[in-house]
Amino acid sequence: MCGIIGYIGDRAACEVIVKGLKRLEYRGYDSAGVVTEDGGKLFIKKGAGAIDELTEKLGLLEMPGKRGIGHTRWATHGVPNEINAHPHTDCTGKIALVHNGIIENFAEIREYLLSLGHTFKSDTDTEVIAHLIEEELKSAPSFEDAMRNALLKLRGSFALGIIYAEEPDRLYFVRNESPLVLGIGDGENFAASDVPAFLEYTNRAVFLDDGEYAVIGKDFYVIKKLATGEVVEKPVQEIEWTLEMAEKSGYPHFMLKEIYEQPRAIKDAIHGNIDAVKRAAEEIARYEKIFIIAMGTSYHAGLVGRYLFQRLAKRVPIVEDASEFRYEFEDLIDEDTLVIAITQSGETADTLAAMKLAKKRGAKVLAIVNVVGSMATRVADMTLYTHAGPEIGVAATKTYTTQLTVLTMLAIELARVLGTADEAYLSSLEKGLKRVPDLVESVLKHDAALRELAENLADRRDFFYIGRGINVPTALEGALKLKEISYIHAEGLSAGELKHGPLALLEEGVPVVAVAPSGKTFDKMVGNVEESRARGAFIIGLGDREELRRVSSAFIEMPGIDELMTPIVYIIPLQLIAYHLAVLRGNDPDKPRNLAKSVTVE
Ligand code: F6R
Repeated sequence: MCGIIGYIGDRAACEVIVKGLKRLEYRGYDSAGVVTEDGGKLFIKKGAGAIDELTEKLGLLEMPGKRGIGHTRWATHGVPNEINAHPHTDCTGKIALVHNGIIENFAEIREYLLSLGHTFKSDTDTEVIAHLIEEELKSAPSFEDAMRNALLKLRGSFALGIIYAEEPDRLYFVRNESPLVLGIGDGENFAASDVPAFLEYTNRAVFLDDGEYAVIGKDFYVIKKLATGEVVEKPVQEIEWTLEMAEKSGYPHFMLKEIYEQPRAIKDAIHGNIDAVKRAAEEIARYEKIFIIAMGTSYHAGLVGRYLFQRLAKRVPIVEDASEFRYEFEDLIDEDTLVIAITQSGETADTLAAMKLAKKRGAKVLAIVNVVGSMATRVADMTLYTHAGPEIGVAATKTYTTQLTVLTMLAIELARVLGTADEAYLSSLEKGLKRVPDLVESVLKHDAALRELAENLADRRDFFYIGRGINVPTALEGALKLKEISYIHAEGLSAGELKHGPLALLEEGVPVVAVAPSGKTFDKMVGNVEESRARGAFIIGLGDREELRRVSSAFIEMPGIDELMTPIVYIIPLQLIAYHLAVLRGNDPDKPRNLAKSVTVE
């Protein structure tokens, strides 16, 4: 996730852009850059670091011109540094652009352009777009046509801001699966990834839809379809948010915003890993001895990963909490070992120490990470990115579901390489995974009902979460979410374990959350729910079967999907329950007491 802001009018563009970037910094903060135009010449300044630091260091506020575009980056391809920071330009230096999103077929396009003699300065997927437009411009009747022709060749998600030195009266902004909104002023116009970037100047906004682009000038704007060039009429909306609300896109907390971002984040995780998981699976296939190491929520993702690997690829990784792994498994690690480290921040001290130890003993290390350029990516031999965008709420939400997405893709690909599952089944799983963002969207519609449920349960002291098979980790993760932000005691466990001790704690009204999708253990789950109900427990059933509804005190109806993908979808209501309980109890879910976003001490 990155942030884009563009301006055209009578003000000093650099001032509007720097302010806008500051407001968008929550979307990404590893590097930034600005392009302005003056007298038919482009001026570009960019570098790694936070906006304030770069404003000072590069003199961003001294850039000439009354039109320009800025970008704050959250790296997806290439480490955060000056070269990879946006804007990127073509060979002539007349086209500059910034990008939010992922271009899936960039490697292919880059090869094609290299064969035509283009040279590239950066490792980014973005730079190819500037060169592709330059190439199209050789035969197209106008810049706008060249831009359209080029963009129609891209696959993936993108929001773009584009400036062409030879057209001083306009800027171009394109949206395809990454957000973009225009700000309509008097004698000036704006475009940005998000409203707070321009809210100080205008509250009149026009939201672009996927497959649309806008041409904006000082006194005009026009929106067109990318596929046909046909003009689209769109309503101007008056935004009534305060700046603070706008930064969270109108959500009261970042955590809630991030929960709602999951359909988008999962899509990006899929788009961004299609080729990468193929390469990783080839490598993993060479190892019989596999460890998955992680902490907290990432550890729960690792547990789901074990089920995926064992069910599809018939490999059973040992999943260990990284702080234990270092001391208990050292003697077992050698050059025949593969270690998969999962860490959203890439900076967790226990996980890093375990990774370093594994490397020292000769193991191969694959990391699954959200933060590009973080320490884990430097220690690992190979990295897969979750592409969730920055997660600001301390409780992990979208980084968890994107970790699960990557692990699912990896397990499918591994099974393919090893020939351990039927190809028809594997392709049906891939198709199913592509439906997951929509299913998550549909589950988010239970939000109001979940809030109501939380209102009825806000005074409870203990919660139990039960699941079976691949959803034992869902139970653990649901309980962790509740503990860390609502401060209510919660336990997650396999439903089978209930009667081996914990059942003694169940009494009238104690909430038991049953994660019970259709699958081979469904009947057993219903049996476990009955046991709890007989002790007076308040059953919150999550499932897709009538039999569960009948035994539940509250039932959350879930969409039907292959059991292997249920952990991604079933965690959503549990995140929402935890969120609402935290808020109802007067806690700030974004900043739970005693906890930090990345735990950099062992
Ligand atoms: C819980 C949470 C933590 C982290 C854990 C590992 O919501 O966020 O349990 O999952 O501290 O962090 P990373 O994934 O950054 O290594």
